[in-house]
Amino acid sequence: MKQLNNKHFVLGLTGGIACYKAAELCRSLIKQGATVQVVMTDAASQFITPVTMQALSDRPVFSSQWDPRQTNNMAHINLSRDADAILIAPASADFVAKLLHGRADDLLSLMCLARPIDKVPLIIAPAMNKEMWANPATQRNTAQLKLDGVHVLGVGVGDQACGEVGDGRMLEPFEIVEELESFFTKKVLKGKHVLITAGPTYEAIDPVRGITNLSSGKMGFAIAKACQRAGAFVRLISGPVALNSPRGVERINVTSAQQMYQAVLERVSQADIFVATAAVADWRASSSGEQKIKKMNTSGPPQIDLVENPDILKTVAQLPKAKSGELYCVGFAAESEELQTLAVAKRKSKGVPLLVANLGPATFGRDENALLLVDETGVRELAWASKDELAVELVGEISRRIGSS
Ligand code: CTP
Repeated sequence: MKQLNNKHFVLGLTGGIACYKAAELCRSLIKQGATVQVVMTDAASQFITPVTMQALSDRPVFSSQWDPRQTNNMAHINLSRDADAILIAPASADFVAKLLHGRADDLLSLMCLARPIDKVPLIIAPAMNKEMWANPATQRNTAQLKLDGVHVLGVGVGDQACGEVGDGRMLEPFEIVEELESFFTKKVLKGKHVLITAGPTYEAIDPVRGITNLSSGKMGFAIAKACQRAGAFVRLISGPVALNSPRGVERINVTSAQQMYQAVLERVSQADIFVATAAVADWRASSSGEQKIKKMNTSGPPQIDLVENPDILKTVAQLPKAKSGELYCVGFAAESEELQTLAVAKRKSKGVPLLVANLGPATFGRDENALLLVDETGVRELAWASKDELAVELVGEISRRIGSS
């Protein structure tokens, strides 16, 4: 599902070296199914040509309010009325100051001032040198713009074109696209606190070997992202995986099932929703040596005694908060056969209102999945789709069940 499909953006470019990123941003928006009308200030044209932006957006670029191509000579009205948002990226320090004062001496600032405030949101991605960003004037201006209803995106940190290092870089195009997707997501979990476990656990046998499984963590991370975009505060407790944290999600890394259990119990009291997607190892070695078990020191394969790990989901589902319904628990089931039968039984044995079942071997490591939702009323299938899409559907299912849609 493309969140930005059929959305129309006015993409405003103002003067700054980050204009080079606006080319990629424009391309990404179009790839997402959006249409883009580029408007540039004269200063922006010093950094990137209107020709480049026209080729990428497949529309003529506008820079002047006196442009004769608009027959009524009202580019500042005509170009913004059908926009789902005006996005200024990059927004220079000077342009931010201009917006604050409601100045309107070029096409872009005039268009921002003349937009219907309730219908066309204004989103800005600031980009400037770290000293300019830290300057009290800029900080005051962005704070006031937020109060005025402008959606001010954060800035990146790192190397700057001037050679200095610090805050003030424009977010990367993919980050801005993520911010926009989030902006247009219905906030069905607004004010909710969600705790999620994800990935495999790793149970050490010795310093170089261990017991783990094939879970990639992708489903859990997709759910964390979908919950965050739906307005929730999200804590993600993750086993060892090779995934970047979803934007705006607090991540806690753990290795073993016992660490995951501790991390969950320390935080569950603040949660309204608990989603256990982790493929927790059921057993661990009763002891793990400090030195590697050497083949030459053993006669034949070593005997490894296993002990059972705590069942995190079952423990949480037994808490008074969960039993009273104050905490909504969602379990997962990774099976290899008889999905429905096993899922129905697992929901009961775990004591959770909703259990989401999937065929582990069919989905481990992949970007797609199919889910079977089991609750007290029956079973619902979510057909094979990307994990991101399934996560959004699942968030909708959870919010309906807790009555927060
Ligand atoms: N789970 C858990 N702690 C465990 C084992 C499982 O929290 N020690 C959670 C998982 O995160 C998942 C659900 O319980 O939400 C079911 O996990 P699964 O591995 O499918 O089932 P198991 O309980 O391990 O049972 P079995 O291996 O017999 O299928």
